[in-house]
Amino acid sequence: MHYENVLATIGNTPLIRMNRIAQEIPAKVFAKVESYNPGQSAKDRIALFMIEEAERAGKLKPGGTIVEATSGNTGFSIAMVSSIKGYRCILTLTSKASPEKISLLKSMGAQVVICPVDVEPADPRSYYSAAERIAHETPNSFYLAQNFNLDNAEAHYRTTGPEIWKQTRGKITHFVCCAGTGGTLSGTARYLKEKNPDVKIIGVDAYGSVLKKFWETHEYDPNEIKPYKVEGLGKNIIPHNMNFELVDDFVKVTDKDSAFQTRDLAKYEGLMVGYSSGSAMQAVFEIADELSKDDVVVVLFSDHGSRYLGKIFNDEWMVEQGWLECEPAEAAAGMGSTPPVKHFEHYAPAEATGSAAYFYSYEAMRDRYIKYYRTYRLKYKKYIRLTRQTLGL
Ligand SMILES: Cc1ncc(COP(=O)(O)O)c(C=O)c1O
Repeated sequence: MHYENVLATIGNTPLIRMNRIAQEIPAKVFAKVESYNPGQSAKDRIALFMIEEAERAGKLKPGGTIVEATSGNTGFSIAMVSSIKGYRCILTLTSKASPEKISLLKSMGAQVVICPVDVEPADPRSYYSAAERIAHETPNSFYLAQNFNLDNAEAHYRTTGPEIWKQTRGKITHFVCCAGTGGTLSGTARYLKEKNPDVKIIGVDAYGSVLKKFWETHEYDPNEIKPYKVEGLGKNIIPHNMNFELVDDFVKVTDKDSAFQTRDLAKYEGLMVGYSSGSAMQAVFEIADELSKDDVVVVLFSDHGSRYLGKIFNDEWMVEQGWLECEPAEAAAGMGSTPPVKHFEHYAPAEATGSAAYFYSYEAMRDRYIKYYRTYRLKYKKYIRLTRQTLGL
């Protein structure tokens, strides 16, 4: 058994049961782990499909140039497909993209153009405008435009949706998925809803993005836009690939919660996944009080954690954000992977040894704390909901 080339290994990613991290969630929780794609993200699926559709339509000819505005993952996948198919690849990125992502793109032979992150989409300096201009000025080029090219969602309709349906043997009740271009969510959701209209679709959005507000009000509110840290999640435009009608609920998550959830996924599930995967996992906790033991939740993890080693997996970066309480010097010395030991010192008897030493160890305390915190948070949310119902709010 062998594959003709790396593109043949795209898709058919595993569905993995979440155990320790989801202990307090009443439902069965499974993750669709897209980092198993050869380019380590869900974007492999759309890059291949959009490029092959463009070839079939005669929009992309041999020796041509592919141009795209991308937060990084789509760029990597496009660069990978381009290298196999012999296209030149020019990518525009915002200055928010991590240095690791930029190096990865270059390693695949892509030309990278960095554009300012804090400008309006219509501004000529934005990464969208830059991509359009480059495509316009480059002969025999094609701008894939993942936000507006409906082959993006179609790729997930044809692959991700059927895979999840088959892997859960049709038992899925909730699909939790981050929304950026909306392609992953909308394509997968369309398939799942066709199979069973009762499957609940939970979109995940960032504070600082316009998507949730648009879903609620059908209005684009630029006041929603502000900088945030999670990459790939949320938008400052309304992408055509985002089919709002398929969404039953939209959940906003913070940069900080997303960061800790991502670190916990590595620590408790052995899954080194990306920052937005922590956002999606956080959203499962946000809806936990609506779940029951018969529910089957599928949460989609978009990419691999290795792309964020300089960010959420870097203690110094976490300290700089004010999320870990220790000095950068301590973090650099490896002391800050979680809140520093010194805060817990007074709990431990000075003479503690053996299993007592373990009981009072920092790791054991944090595990107990996390369990308590999760239980408390779920109960707390339920009480607020009940109180609001009683007061008719
Ligand atoms: C890491 C990451 N998570 C989530 C998303 C959102 O996926 P989609 O664009 O299909 O909505 C993206 C898209 O760029 C991404 O790169």
